[in-house]
Amino acid sequence: MTTIHDFISRATRSCAALDAGHPAQEVWALGCHVLGRPLTKLLASDPKERIDPQDEARWTELMARRLQGEPLAYLLGTAEFWSLSLRVSPDVLVPRPETELLVEHALGTSPSQALRYADVGTGSGAIALALKKERPAAFVVGLDKSHKALRVAQANAQALGLDVGFIASDWLAAVEGARFDIIVSNPPYIHCADPCLTADGLRYEPSLALVGGEDGLDGLRAVIVQSGSHLNDGGRLLLEHGSCQGPATAALLRQAGFTAIRTYTDLAGHERVTEGTLHGR
Ligand SMILES: C[S@@+](CC[C@H](N)C(=O)[O-])C[C@H]1O[C@@H](n2cnc3c(N)ncnc32)[C@H](O)[C@@H]1O
Repeated sequence: MTTIHDFISRATRSCAALDAGHPAQEVWALGCHVLGRPLTKLLASDPKERIDPQDEARWTELMARRLQGEPLAYLLGTAEFWSLSLRVSPDVLVPRPETELLVEHALGTSPSQALRYADVGTGSGAIALALKKERPAAFVVGLDKSHKALRVAQANAQALGLDVGFIASDWLAAVEGARFDIIVSNPPYIHCADPCLTADGLRYEPSLALVGGEDGLDGLRAVIVQSGSHLNDGGRLLLEHGSCQGPATAALLRQAGFTAIRTYTDLAGHERVTEGTLHGR
């Protein structure tokens, strides 16, 4: 029988090829998941402690799937976003750290206002739930075309005790007549022929969450056009987009009558979020 320490050393060596920041951390994360113990306990385990053969088989299987490129978050069933622990499954995009930039700018500088927020294409509910966490007095709704994604988002809201409504909708079609102060969206924005869609990680995620048509802008266009009739006077629309789509997103916002258009860069220095304000509604 193998000891835990031997298993970790062997698995870390075989994971060296992984395009991940720290292969050992992935081995540890899966080990904590399989053995049901926190990292401190896993690392402090007795050097002579042997793994139960069933646990070893499960840990080996998960490591093999990880080496095939399956996202760690799907294997663990959870992902961290804005300090929230979210349940994720292959029905939703794994929330990305760069999307926190969208949350940051949507929150702005007025903490006490009971604003009305809509998160269009909510997926796991990551953005909507982060907004509600920070603005308990706000009204927050998450919209998505995928019923499976909405079930994940609802389970997350329940587990976190956050009162966010989730509605099945083709963009904003199901909330006709509703007005919001802030609309946020991280729509699918990869163009359909982009080779990255077949790369590790992305090929496991739902194409509805990734592909934005021939030029990648279909989702951004739809949300910009439809937001016009759903924003209060002075309302803001904030959009996440690809690193090369800042100018195109700004142009679409301008065409739709938005002003005060600004693009923000993420920590890697990529243009990632563009916002505009709509007056005269
Ligand atoms: C890039 S994912 C973003 C998920 C989540 N907001 C996040 O940031 O992690 C895009 C989301 O848009 C949803 N979506 C795609 N087409 C849609 C449509 N026509 N109407 C509403 N939602 C749509 C997908 O199901 C997916 O959940």
